[in-house]
Amino acid sequence: MKRNALVFALLAGFAVSAAAQDLTWRKDVAPIIKKGCAECHGVEAPEYGDWMLLDDAKRKKEGPRMDTYTTFMNYVVWPATGAMMRRLDDGASSGGKKGNMYKYLGDDDAERAKNFATIKAWLGDGAWNLNRFKERKGVPGITKEQLEKVKAKY
Ligand code: HEC
Repeated sequence: MKRNALVFALLAGFAVSAAAQDLTWRKDVAPIIKKGCAECHGVEAPEYGDWMLLDDAKRKKEGPRMDTYTTFMNYVVWPATGAMMRRLDDGASSGGKKGNMYKYLGDDDAERAKNFATIKAWLGDGAWNLNRFKERKGVPGITKEQLEKVKAKY
Protein backbone atom coordinates (compact mmCIF):
# COMPACT_ATOMS: atom_id res chain seq x y z
CA MET A 1 0.00 0.00 0.00
CA LYS A 2 2.69 2.40 1.06
CA ARG A 3 4.73 1.50 -1.96
CA ASN A 4 1.74 1.89 -4.30
CA ALA A 5 1.08 5.34 -2.89
CA LEU A 6 4.68 6.30 -3.58
CA VAL A 7 4.55 4.97 -7.14
CA PHE A 8 1.31 6.84 -7.70
CA ALA A 9 2.79 10.08 -6.33
CA LEU A 10 5.79 9.70 -8.63
CA LEU A 11 3.59 9.06 -11.65
CA ALA A 12 1.31 11.98 -10.84
CA GLY A 13 4.34 14.24 -10.48
CA PHE A 14 5.64 12.99 -13.78
CA ALA A 15 2.30 13.67 -15.50
CA VAL A 16 2.27 17.26 -14.21
CA SER A 17 5.82 18.04 -15.26
CA ALA A 18 5.28 16.35 -18.62
CA ALA A 19 2.23 18.57 -19.18
CA ALA A 20 4.22 21.70 -18.32
CA GLN A 21 6.94 20.65 -20.73
CA ASP A 22 4.47 20.11 -23.56
CA LEU A 23 3.13 23.63 -23.23
CA THR A 24 5.00 26.28 -25.19
CA TRP A 25 4.90 30.05 -25.47
CA ARG A 26 4.26 29.89 -29.21
CA LYS A 27 1.51 27.30 -29.17
CA ASP A 28 -0.28 27.88 -25.86
CA VAL A 29 0.55 31.19 -24.18
CA ALA A 30 1.11 33.74 -26.98
CA PRO A 31 -2.49 33.29 -28.29
CA ILE A 32 -3.90 34.05 -24.81
CA ILE A 33 -1.78 37.21 -24.55
CA LYS A 34 -2.62 38.25 -28.09
CA LYS A 35 -6.33 37.93 -27.49
CA GLY A 36 -6.63 39.37 -23.99
CA CYS A 37 -3.64 41.62 -23.41
CA ALA A 38 -2.09 42.87 -26.66
CA GLU A 39 -4.60 45.69 -27.03
CA CYS A 40 -2.82 47.41 -24.13
CA HIS A 41 0.47 45.49 -23.91
CA GLY A 42 1.24 44.91 -27.60
CA VAL A 43 3.71 46.17 -30.16
CA GLU A 44 2.63 49.80 -29.67
CA ALA A 45 3.26 49.68 -25.93
CA PRO A 46 6.55 50.97 -24.47
CA GLU A 47 9.31 48.60 -23.38
CA TYR A 48 9.37 48.09 -19.62
CA GLY A 49 12.39 50.40 -19.18
CA ASP A 50 10.73 53.23 -21.14
CA TRP A 51 7.44 52.68 -19.33
CA MET A 52 9.22 53.06 -15.98
CA LEU A 53 10.39 56.52 -17.09
CA LEU A 54 6.81 57.76 -17.64
CA ASP A 55 5.18 59.85 -14.93
CA ASP A 56 2.79 58.11 -12.53
CA ALA A 57 -0.42 59.37 -14.17
CA LYS A 58 0.65 58.16 -17.60
CA ARG A 59 1.86 54.83 -16.21
CA LYS A 60 -1.59 54.17 -14.74
CA LYS A 61 -3.28 54.60 -18.13
CA GLU A 62 -0.79 52.88 -20.41
CA GLY A 63 0.61 49.37 -20.01
CA PRO A 64 4.15 48.23 -20.87
CA ARG A 65 4.89 45.78 -23.68
CA MET A 66 4.60 42.04 -22.95
CA ASP A 67 3.43 40.36 -26.15
CA THR A 68 6.70 38.59 -27.01
CA TYR A 69 8.47 35.87 -25.05
CA THR A 70 11.31 38.15 -23.97
CA THR A 71 9.11 41.08 -22.97
CA PHE A 72 6.72 38.75 -21.13
CA MET A 73 9.57 37.27 -19.12
CA ASN A 74 10.47 40.78 -17.89
CA TYR A 75 7.46 40.45 -15.56
CA VAL A 76 8.21 36.88 -14.51
CA VAL A 77 11.95 36.84 -13.86
CA TRP A 78 13.59 40.26 -14.19
CA PRO A 79 13.45 43.23 -13.76
CA ALA A 80 9.75 43.24 -12.70
CA THR A 81 10.12 39.92 -10.87
CA GLY A 82 6.76 38.35 -10.00
CA ALA A 83 4.66 41.20 -11.49
CA MET A 84 2.96 38.76 -13.88
CA MET A 85 2.03 36.45 -11.02
CA ARG A 86 0.86 39.28 -8.76
CA ARG A 87 -1.37 40.77 -11.49
CA LEU A 88 -2.72 37.50 -12.85
CA ASP A 89 -3.21 35.55 -9.65
CA ASP A 90 -6.64 33.94 -9.21
CA GLY A 91 -6.57 34.69 -5.49
CA ALA A 92 -5.17 31.34 -4.39
CA SER A 93 -1.64 32.71 -3.85
CA SER A 94 -2.60 36.26 -2.90
CA GLY A 95 -4.94 35.82 0.04
CA GLY A 96 -8.21 35.54 -1.91
CA LYS A 97 -7.95 38.72 -3.96
CA LYS A 98 -7.51 38.30 -7.70
CA GLY A 99 -4.79 40.28 -9.47
CA ASN A 100 -6.14 43.30 -11.38
CA MET A 101 -5.26 41.82 -14.80
CA TYR A 102 -6.95 38.45 -14.17
CA LYS A 103 -10.20 39.69 -15.70
CA TYR A 104 -8.54 40.01 -19.11
CA LEU A 105 -7.73 36.29 -19.27
CA GLY A 106 -11.03 35.46 -20.96
CA ASP A 107 -14.62 36.40 -21.72
CA ASP A 108 -16.17 34.29 -18.97
CA ASP A 109 -15.22 32.50 -15.74
CA ALA A 110 -14.52 29.19 -17.47
CA GLU A 111 -12.22 30.71 -20.10
CA ARG A 112 -10.39 32.79 -17.50
CA ALA A 113 -9.84 29.76 -15.25
CA LYS A 114 -8.63 27.64 -18.17
CA ASN A 115 -6.19 30.27 -19.45
CA PHE A 116 -4.93 30.92 -15.94
CA ALA A 117 -4.26 27.20 -15.46
CA THR A 118 -2.44 27.04 -18.81
CA ILE A 119 -0.09 29.93 -18.00
CA LYS A 120 0.56 28.61 -14.50
CA ALA A 121 1.35 25.08 -15.73
CA TRP A 122 3.49 26.45 -18.57
CA LEU A 123 5.62 28.48 -16.15
CA GLY A 124 6.40 25.27 -14.28
CA ASP A 125 5.52 23.36 -11.15
CA GLY A 126 6.36 25.59 -8.16
CA ALA A 127 7.19 28.60 -10.38
CA TRP A 128 4.08 30.65 -9.51
CA ASN A 129 5.72 32.93 -6.94
CA LEU A 130 4.58 36.46 -6.19
CA ASN A 131 7.85 37.60 -4.60
CA ARG A 132 9.72 40.61 -5.93
CA PHE A 133 13.45 40.44 -6.64
CA LYS A 134 14.20 42.06 -3.29
CA GLU A 135 12.42 41.98 0.05
CA ARG A 136 9.61 44.50 0.38
CA LYS A 137 7.37 45.24 3.34
CA GLY A 138 8.35 42.02 5.07
CA VAL A 139 7.75 39.86 1.98
CA PRO A 140 11.01 38.07 1.24
CA GLY A 141 12.73 38.49 -2.11
CA ILE A 142 12.64 35.60 -4.58
CA THR A 143 15.17 32.82 -4.04
CA LYS A 144 17.33 31.10 -6.62
CA GLU A 145 15.52 27.85 -5.78
CA GLN A 146 12.19 29.48 -6.69
CA LEU A 147 13.60 30.90 -9.92
CA GLU A 148 14.95 27.50 -10.87
CA LYS A 149 11.37 26.21 -11.05
CA VAL A 150 10.66 28.38 -14.10
CA LYS A 151 10.44 26.15 -17.18
CA ALA A 152 8.48 28.37 -19.59
CA LYS A 153 9.38 26.61 -22.81
CA TYR A 154 9.54 28.84 -25.89
C1 HEC B 1 -7.52 47.64 -21.27
C2 HEC B 1 -6.07 47.67 -21.15
C3 HEC B 1 -5.36 46.49 -20.53
C4 HEC B 1 -5.52 45.14 -20.81
C5 HEC B 1 -6.49 44.51 -21.80
C6 HEC B 1 -4.56 44.43 -20.01
N1 HEC B 1 -3.82 45.32 -19.27
FE1 HEC B 1 -2.26 44.87 -18.00
N2 HEC B 1 -2.03 46.84 -17.55
C7 HEC B 1 -2.77 47.87 -18.10
C8 HEC B 1 -2.34 49.14 -17.54
C9 HEC B 1 -2.90 50.52 -17.89
C10 HEC B 1 -1.32 48.83 -16.62
C11 HEC B 1 -0.55 49.83 -15.76
C12 HEC B 1 -1.40 50.28 -14.60
C13 HEC B 1 -1.37 49.27 -13.51
O1 HEC B 1 -0.30 49.05 -12.96
O2 HEC B 1 -2.43 48.66 -13.21
C14 HEC B 1 -1.15 47.38 -16.66
C15 HEC B 1 -0.23 46.68 -15.88
C16 HEC B 1 0.03 45.32 -16.01
C17 HEC B 1 1.10 44.62 -15.33
C18 HEC B 1 2.08 45.22 -14.33
C19 HEC B 1 3.40 45.61 -14.95
C20 HEC B 1 4.37 46.10 -13.89
O3 HEC B 1 5.59 45.89 -14.04
O4 HEC B 1 3.94 46.70 -12.89
C21 HEC B 1 1.03 43.32 -15.73
C22 HEC B 1 1.95 42.18 -15.31
C23 HEC B 1 -0.07 43.22 -16.66
N3 HEC B 1 -0.66 44.45 -16.82
C24 HEC B 1 -0.45 42.06 -17.29
C25 HEC B 1 -1.54 41.94 -18.16
C26 HEC B 1 -1.93 40.70 -18.80
C27 HEC B 1 -1.19 39.39 -18.68
C28 HEC B 1 -3.07 40.98 -19.52
C29 HEC B 1 -3.91 40.02 -20.31
C30 HEC B 1 -4.38 38.83 -19.63
C31 HEC B 1 -3.36 42.39 -19.36
N4 HEC B 1 -2.42 42.94 -18.53
C32 HEC B 1 -4.39 43.06 -20.00
C33 HEC B 1 -3.77 47.77 -19.05
C34 HEC B 1 -4.28 46.58 -19.56
